Amino acid sequence: MSPPFLPLLTLLLLSVLQLPSSTPAPTPTPTPTFPLSTSSRWIVDSSGRRVKLACANWAAHLEPAAAEGLGRQPLGAVSERVTSMGFNCVRLTWPLYLLTNASLASLTLRASLARLGLLESLAGVRVNNPDLLDLTLVKVFQAVVSNLASNNLMVILDNQITRPGWCCSKYDDNGFFGDEYFDPDEWLEGLTMMATMFKNSPNVVGMSLRNELRGPKQNVSLWYRYMQKGAEAVHFANPTLLIILSGLDYDKDLSFLHFKQVELSFTGKIVFELHWYGFSDGGDWQNGNPNDVCRMVLDTQMWKAVFLLDKGWPLFLSEFGVDQSGTNIADNHFLSCFISVAAELDFDWALWALQGSYYIREGQLAYDETYGVLSWDWCKARSTDFLQKIAALQSPFQGPGLSNNSAYNLIFHPLTGLCLMVQSPSKPLELGLCGESKAWNYTSEHKVVLKGTGYCLQAEDVGENAMLGSSCSESNSKWDMVSASKMHLSTKLPNNGSTVCLDINSDGTVVTNLCKCLSQDGTCSPESQWFKIITSTRDLGGQGSNIEFRFPRGQLTQFRLATVSKEENSLPKVGGKL
Ligand SMILES: *[C@@H]1O[C@H](CO)[C@@H](O)[C@H](O)[C@H]1NC(C)=O
Ligand SMILES: *[C@@H]1O[C@H](CO)[C@@H](O)[C@H](O)[C@H]1NC(C)=O
Ligand SMILES: *[C@@H]1O[C@H](CO)[C@@H](O)[C@H](O)[C@H]1NC(C)=O
Ligand SMILES: *[C@@H]1O[C@H](CO)[C@@H](O)[C@H](O)[C@H]1NC(C)=O
Ligand SMILES: *[C@@H]1O[C@H](CO)[C@@H](O)[C@H](O)[C@H]1NC(C)=O
Repeated sequence: MSPPFLPLLTLLLLSVLQLPSSTPAPTPTPTPTFPLSTSSRWIVDSSGRRVKLACANWAAHLEPAAAEGLGRQPLGAVSERVTSMGFNCVRLTWPLYLLTNASLASLTLRASLARLGLLESLAGVRVNNPDLLDLTLVKVFQAVVSNLASNNLMVILDNQITRPGWCCSKYDDNGFFGDEYFDPDEWLEGLTMMATMFKNSPNVVGMSLRNELRGPKQNVSLWYRYMQKGAEAVHFANPTLLIILSGLDYDKDLSFLHFKQVELSFTGKIVFELHWYGFSDGGDWQNGNPNDVCRMVLDTQMWKAVFLLDKGWPLFLSEFGVDQSGTNIADNHFLSCFISVAAELDFDWALWALQGSYYIREGQLAYDETYGVLSWDWCKARSTDFLQKIAALQSPFQGPGLSNNSAYNLIFHPLTGLCLMVQSPSKPLELGLCGESKAWNYTSEHKVVLKGTGYCLQAEDVGENAMLGSSCSESNSKWDMVSASKMHLSTKLPNNGSTVCLDINSDGTVVTNLCKCLSQDGTCSPESQWFKIITSTRDLGGQGSNIEFRFPRGQLTQFRLATVSKEENSLPKVGGKL
């Protein structure tokens, strides 16, 4: 799969800075050997090595019943962009009628667009994907899957809805078994056809059986009855697939699994999926104090779904996303909290969404998807800041077969997606790419020690750079995780006992400032002071399993730090209220 930091290198360094041609390539992640299966909470390949799904959702379930964007860019260019942005997988959505309704399935893409009056899209497909125009919708779907596969991307097929259209409303009669457009037998038939169709496509690694179960008819006992039937049908048709089960209430609730497990004739293939958006998670991201809200929503998620990890099931965050304009303050708060949780729990995920725009959505032509990683015209990334934030999450921190390193800590900064870095003991600490970090150890005495050395993190003064020191017994070397979110790293200055928190400066260096927005105040943004101590066994610095303290560092490092500074300068835009 793609090297973890390719997006940064490509999008930022190569385009913004003139890198010398001798730049060493990042260590590539080994290609997984299919099929995938599960091993307790991990998804693993056939050699038992962890595979982390880092997917983008690509919609193909709206009225035209074709993958979005085919009028904007050639199919291959879209696949390549998915790879270059660091994703290793696509969750491709489909409407059940694509397979079960012959009058829809037999339409050509040309006819499907024409019947909806989408003449501009039709003209766009003629230019960008002429080969697809006169294929049937089923063949177009197959062409998309095979193009993704030829770009080494894994594919999860997601049955989003029955009748093509924007999903999901409580009253759209597509929400639960027995709804007008949700006949369980038709669904089983469609799932079987889909699973069979991709029997010989190893890159099709899993199927989400049904998206966001919901509505007035939802019922736990029917959930077990039909999800188990669906899982058996798919497994019978294609035993290589991971089978991904959605919860109730728009896939926000899997809490019924506290009380009863699924019963199936096979093991090692079941994954649960959860959706988590800032606008629907019950927290007040607009007006609440982000520390308090982050704690509250995480407690809710623990009960509703995250407990499954501890019970030995993989959890796939198959939809999360934000308005990528950076101007939605509630979404910005939510995103930092989400990223901190995603780093700590290291779960599999799929971003909503890949598409920068739709042929038509909810009646609006060429609808701009503000949650899309691609721009409206599908030509470039909508926000390189956003890509930097998720880059560290695109490869696994932990899991079977990844490395032989003993566990260490990273000091992760969710607002930027970067990690606490050391250049040399005498230089101020900075943020940098997590893959270039050093191994830290947050000890039981609350010291932040550079692993294998006598150096520890120390506060000097308010507004001053945080430093490495070697006499680690004073109060300014002891760091407590404070606030409800536990993401402020606070310490006491030695001269007068003033409390300060680790923070970042506009030049990308790490400083200590007075702690801010610890609780209550809902008008302030604490995220520059949010640091998450995470556990990792990932190889660092492209140096194999050698994670010793090494310096001086090479030229590349300076380029990367220059990039970081550039990113840091744009923080006020990203952070909203910083
Ligand atoms: C098949 O799909 C077409 C187009 O979406 C729709 O008009 C028709 O009602 C569907 N037929 C059945 C039997 O569901
Ligand atoms: C759920 O469905 C079962 C089986 O049809 C039914 O017996 C039960 O009453 C339903 N429960 C609720 C809460 O509707
Ligand atoms: C871990 O060490 C074993 C034994 O030396 C070796 O076979 C294996 O390939 C190593 N695993 C990784 C991921 O480096
Ligand atoms: C931190 O150091 C302690 C003491 O040496 C050790 O027991 C622990 O495993 C280390 N933890 C990490 C995450 O490095
Ligand atoms: C403590 O001392 C630092 C200087 O070392 C100063 O900036 C800070 O304001 C002092 N705090 C109090 C409460 O006096």
